[in-house]
Amino acid sequence: MKRRAFLKSVAAAIPGLVPGQAPDAEIVLRPAEPGPEISRHIYGQFIEHLGGVIYDGIWVGPGSKIPNVDGLRKQFVDDMKRIGTPNFRWPGGCFADGYHWRDGIGPRERRPRTYNFWQARVPKGVDHTETNHFGTHEFIRLCRLAGAEPYIAANVGSGTPAEFQDWVLYCNAPVGTVSQARERAANGDAEPFRVRYWGVGNESWGCGGNMKPQEYATEYRKFATQYPLAYQEPFLIAVGPSGGRPDGHLEWTRGFFEGLAGHGAGIWPHGFGLHYYTRPRRSAKHDRRSPERWYDILVAGARTEKLLEDHWQVMGEFDRERRTRFVVDEWGVWQPPGTEIGPQYLFSQEGNLRDALHAAITLDIFNRHADKIAMAQIAQTINCIHSLFLASGDRFVRTPTYYVFELYRPHMDARRVPIGLRVPDLKVPVGDGDEPLAALSGSASLKERRLTLTLVNPSLEADAGALIRLEGAQAVEARAQVLTHADPHAANTLDKGEAVKPAPLEAAVTGGQVRLRVPRHAVAAVEIRLA
Ligand code: AHR
Repeated sequence: MKRRAFLKSVAAAIPGLVPGQAPDAEIVLRPAEPGPEISRHIYGQFIEHLGGVIYDGIWVGPGSKIPNVDGLRKQFVDDMKRIGTPNFRWPGGCFADGYHWRDGIGPRERRPRTYNFWQARVPKGVDHTETNHFGTHEFIRLCRLAGAEPYIAANVGSGTPAEFQDWVLYCNAPVGTVSQARERAANGDAEPFRVRYWGVGNESWGCGGNMKPQEYATEYRKFATQYPLAYQEPFLIAVGPSGGRPDGHLEWTRGFFEGLAGHGAGIWPHGFGLHYYTRPRRSAKHDRRSPERWYDILVAGARTEKLLEDHWQVMGEFDRERRTRFVVDEWGVWQPPGTEIGPQYLFSQEGNLRDALHAAITLDIFNRHADKIAMAQIAQTINCIHSLFLASGDRFVRTPTYYVFELYRPHMDARRVPIGLRVPDLKVPVGDGDEPLAALSGSASLKERRLTLTLVNPSLEADAGALIRLEGAQAVEARAQVLTHADPHAANTLDKGEAVKPAPLEAAVTGGQVRLRVPRHAVAAVEIRLA
């Protein structure tokens, strides 16, 4: 067969490619050279005593008519298991620096009702006091049921190193050692909780105490020194910067590590907690459904990469051995008010397709930087900011972002595969002009003979054809799924249910290579079986 006729026949057999038309993007993968493991902990969750996250969202109480396991909403637990949730960060957030853990143990009916940091933010008349019905034992029960590891953020803002030590001993000491262990057993849990991940405060530059980086470094040293090492090796997470600040908050990173340097290796943190919320930069100028808002959010999400690189460089000046890695323990799109479930569900917002694309772009960045990132937690899992679920009473819905976590699950604990994307940038309108945005972005990983490639096409207008070339390997089979909707602003809501769900996508294997067409405003996940 002549070359032209051959190409014509191949193209005719490939979905989405018109005969004679070159693919829009060429993706080169090198599965023979896998890199570091993508920690499962990158796919973590953040839950805070805020609005409807814990109460109603997760905790419905053992007496509730809503199906539950020991008071925990059953559907939530089941779905968390289904996506292999690796960890939960709790109890905050800003709540953490006002939380005294002893209020949340012992018989529930005798626990005190205490002030919640967020009380001042809910509308007048809405009771947001803390019942303490969900405390340490309930949190650990949730983690155990979901198969997730606990990550506890300790109280630095209004607590003491002694209170921190007391909590760690209560969680981790075996019965027969210190009296905190006996107390835990008397409260129903003889088996130690084995909490390894401890956050030393939260946003200490803001709601956690309004400190300067050097002041926080002093606090961090005091807390870290009091960690009782006898029963459980810790993974200590220091408060990192606020990536949303216009200057990226590099002075926090520099100031904190300066404050640690020269004080001994024993207190050096294992994790550094970067927070990055994507908020619309020009909300006054465009409405929720405008292309400008769409691209503004996605361009800002893609900046996560630069943020990681900039802070990593500063960290490296103080930590040449790279003992500290990022814990991006709050990230997500923080939408302006207007789509709340109700007044008591503070910061709840609709779960739409655009935010799912943002989540996918972010997770792809985390995968590509797997060497730098130990953990990450989306904020927040249910009923708050960039949620995977919305729930109210007996109503419950999965957002499109939940499905991104489902599609990306094969990346967990897989080895990162180098990815080369040959595709020109889009020039997208963001309000004040145009900015570049990758026309297709993604990440790849390998587990045994299975290669996973995830891709995002952010364009509101054009589908993207892709030719996936494997260097040093041959594809024998490819299966793909896509998350999209005819309306790019489609949302999954409690009233209407799930409008946006994954669907199969055609992927063709020819000559050991894969071709597919990623529709506009879509996330695609391709699983390739290698020869
Ligand atoms: O996630 C909501 C709040 O945002 C958290 O409590 C705080 O850490 C951040 O500012």
